[in-house]
Amino acid sequence: MKIYIATDHAAFCIKDDVKKILESLGNEVVDLGPANDDRVDYPDFAHKLSKSVLEDPSSQGVLICGTGIGMSLSANKHIGIRAALCHDAYTAQMAREHNDANVLCFGQRVVGLGTIESICKTWCQTTFEGGRHADRVGKIEL
Ligand code: RB5
Repeated sequence: MKIYIATDHAAFCIKDDVKKILESLGNEVVDLGPANDDRVDYPDFAHKLSKSVLEDPSSQGVLICGTGIGMSLSANKHIGIRAALCHDAYTAQMAREHNDANVLCFGQRVVGLGTIESICKTWCQTTFEGGRHADRVGKIEL
């Protein structure tokens, strides 16, 4: 799976660790920035990543900011992006199984590296259940 990743300055410090986790799970990771921890605006990176995922429908994305909230709010403005703010393996599992989420968001100031590892592992190993969930996902966009 190709996975695009982007952060803001608050989460830049864990970007390389998350890239390594995703690569260890067999993914090709494409880093969309930022290149350093200079202050940036999270919507700029959320929009950049969302456009990349939409242009490459078999791909997914990972967006990280301080809380994950700003990134998820911004990414979900794009039709076709289903960005899920996950706090643990359970929310990651449900985001994939029930919501067919294609962008994983979490907060660097909220979850530690051990939890991030279990979130990423669960996310990558869980597929969409379809069925009744497909009908519901189809109703998300107005
Ligand atoms: C940056 O201070 C912080 O606001 C940002 O990382 C994020 O948490 C916003 O939702």
